[in-house]
Formats: sequence, structure tokens, C-alpha cells
Amino acid sequence: MNVLVLGSGGREHALAWRISKSKLLKNLFISPGNPGTAGIGKNVELEPGKQNIAEFCKTNDIDLVVIGPEQPLVEGLADFLRSENIKVFGPDGKAAEIEGSKSFAKELMQKYSVPTAAYKEFDNTEYGDASVYLKDYKFPAVIKADGLAAGKGVIICNNFIEAENALKEIFVEKAFGGAGSKIIIEEFLEGEEASILAVTDGDDYVLLPSSQDHKRIGEGDTGKNTGGMGAYSPAPVITSRILNEIESKIIEPVLEGMKKEGRKFSGCLYAGLMITSEGPKVIEFNCRFGDPETQAVLPLVGGDFLKLLYSAASGKLDKKAVNFPGGTAVCVVAVSGGYPGSYKKGLEILGLEDTDTAELIVFHAGTSRKEYRIITSGGRVLGVTAVLKENDLQKARTLAYGALSRIKFKDMYYRRDIGIKALKRES
Ligand code: AMP
Ligand code: GLY
Repeated sequence: MNVLVLGSGGREHALAWRISKSKLLKNLFISPGNPGTAGIGKNVELEPGKQNIAEFCKTNDIDLVVIGPEQPLVEGLADFLRSENIKVFGPDGKAAEIEGSKSFAKELMQKYSVPTAAYKEFDNTEYGDASVYLKDYKFPAVIKADGLAAGKGVIICNNFIEAENALKEIFVEKAFGGAGSKIIIEEFLEGEEASILAVTDGDDYVLLPSSQDHKRIGEGDTGKNTGGMGAYSPAPVITSRILNEIESKIIEPVLEGMKKEGRKFSGCLYAGLMITSEGPKVIEFNCRFGDPETQAVLPLVGGDFLKLLYSAASGKLDKKAVNFPGGTAVCVVAVSGGYPGSYKKGLEILGLEDTDTAELIVFHAGTSRKEYRIITSGGRVLGVTAVLKENDLQKARTLAYGALSRIKFKDMYYRRDIGIKALKRES
């Protein structure tokens, strides 16, 4: 098979890496890709526009397109490619709304009794009503922009003053542009977060191993939200009892509901969950693989991952294509100093050559090549991932952090507590 992976981050490097192991693979293209994906396939620069992607697919006999990020999915790239008879892993625009509109996701969950935080919705003509509603709120309250906001559209407010500021930021200052023309105000959920990825053809699904992201910039989950500072898999907070609940109360009713709504979801359904004292509740759905969860989860997937994706894209999910032999993986994200605020780019990265072992994979995210050097080109730069056959998170952490101590770029920063919550739970 000839495969095209779209995207340039750590998630896409991990997808390409896993696909590159398939016996079914002939040629692997990544667009635009990064220096990491250049080592396992061919990076191609495509002119923007759906038509250009379709033309590339036809010229290169592409059998499957795997769309990494949410934006093109929400904009209907999968629909367009399918209309050109190109096979795609990823949902149609109508199904991607589950991530593209929090209001839609909430309505869906309410209609199909999927456990989630209680909420109320307001649009920008209801600024005053939202303010009145918040006056007597039992804080904290979570205020979310309805549309895509690159992971930044969530504000947790501890009191009315913070809530008023959040409303002003969204409705008046338009901090999230059109994504904030509608908001959700929802109850703050207490518990531990975890992520579940379901690969689905819309009818049937395969759950990949559970994982846990670390969203805040600072150790101990402090400071600003980021795209994700690290992940490990599996997440012990997801016990087998909780996993059963996630399947029966969340994944199955949502896939069923999406079908009934005429929005059959095929691709990767990402459930961001809070494991509360009342059981798992949905924080958000994403319409694609998580980043950095994918970097920790895919190394633990055995069998033929490409076969699984192709079968999902073909509407006949082959659940036996993959297996789950166990093990542990931890991915620690190295970022450029200042991220998620402003940060420098173009910093030379040293020490990458010393990190290639059987138990270590350095996934590239914000990197680019300048002559023979690798330099930083984004906030999240690398995902240093340790993978063990045995279930030993402590050892995996030691390996990952050992590798990080050999990698250097100016003002490099990473959290030193990735996976600590799981270790505390074990002890
Ligand atoms: P989201 O972009 O929806 O994933 O939200 C970003 C982060 O905000 C989540 O990973 C949670 O840590 C936090 N968050 C969002 N919604 C809630 C909620 N209802 N209760 C508690 N924390 C939340
Ligand atoms: N790790 C969070 C996300 O992919 O949205």
C-alpha cells in the first residue's frame, strides 16, 4: 500500500513510525512531516487546498490517507477526498463536529445519556444572561469556547470576578475569534484525567491502551494549559471495571448516537475523561488521535496497525489486525523555554544521535532541518519516549529522563513528574 499521513507533529511522527512497520506498506509519504518522519518515509510539501491533496493521491496511487490534526477534519477534508474515491482514515466533517463544536458534543451526550459535566449554553447575544447565571454559581465554573481553539478555549474560574473576566475575554475581546461566538458553562469535575482512543469504522471499535496526558506547563499540574507535556500508557486509573463502564456508557452510546444523528463516525474517537467518584465522565471528545498520547500508546500496539486503519477506513473493521502484548511507555515532551507563551525558534538541538536504542524513540514535533543540523521550529519540540516490554513505569521514566539529559537546546524545558501520579497510585 501507498500511504499518505497528513500533519507535522509528534502524533504524526508516531503514526508514520507505526505504519512504517507494516508488511503491507510500499511507499510512505508524510505532508509536510518533520525531520523525524523524513527518516521513515518521504516528506512532501503540498500546496494548500483539498484539490492539491487529491491530485497528489491520484498521481502517487495512494491507497490510504491518514489525517492527523482536527482542523482539516472539521473543515471536511475527509469528505472531499472520499468524494474523489480516495480512502481516508478520519471522520467526515459532520462527524468531526464532535470536536469542532462543544455545544454539539454536549447535546449529543445529553440526548444519549452519556455521563458528562452538567452545563448551560450561551451565545454572544446572551452575555448578560450568562453573567446573571454565573452570579449565583457554585464555583469553580468551567467556561469553554464552542469551536476549535487549539486547546486554549477552556477557562477555569474560581469566583465570579474570574468568570466575568472570562466572559469579557471571549465575547468582547474575542480571544478565540469565531470559536467563542457561543460558550458552554459547565460544572467543574473532580478526579483524575485519562484518555481513551477508539479506532472505529462507525459500527465496531477497538480500544487502544489507556493513557494519561499532562496538560499543564508546570510540575504538579500547575500553570498554563499546553498542548500536552507528556503521557504514559497504560493509565492505572483506568481499571478493568472502569474500562467496562467507558465502553458501555460512553463509547458505545456515542457511536450509536452518531449513527442515529446521520453522522456516523469513522476514524479515531478520542475520549478525554475525568474519573470521578461517580465513575468516568467525559470532559471532551476529539475526532483524531491525541497528542502526545499517541506517542505513548502506539508503541504498545502489536500486529499490523496499517491493516487496522485501512479496515476502519473501508468500513469493515478488522479487530484481529492488532493485539496488545502489554508493556509500558512514557513520552516526555521537551519544549522551548517560554511555551505556551512566546518562545524562540531556530535553536540547534544537540545529542539526538545518542538516543537511538531499542527501548527509546525520539518523536519529533517542532523541529526542522537546517543543512546538516536539526533546529527547533515550534513550542513542543520533541517527545522522548521510552518503551518497555514489561510493566515498569519507574524504569521507563528513568530511561526517558536519561535520554533527555543527553539532549540539549537553549532554554529546553520539560516536566520531571510525567507518570508520577501512576507511581503514587501503585504504591
Ligand atoms: P479540554 O480542552 O476540553 O480538554 O480542556 C482542557 C483541560 O481543562 C482539561 O484537560 C481539563 O484538565 C480541564 N477541564 C476541562 N473541562 C473540565 C471540567 N468540566 N472539570 C474539570 N476540569 C476540566
Ligand atoms: N492531548 C490532548 C489532545 O490531543 O487534545
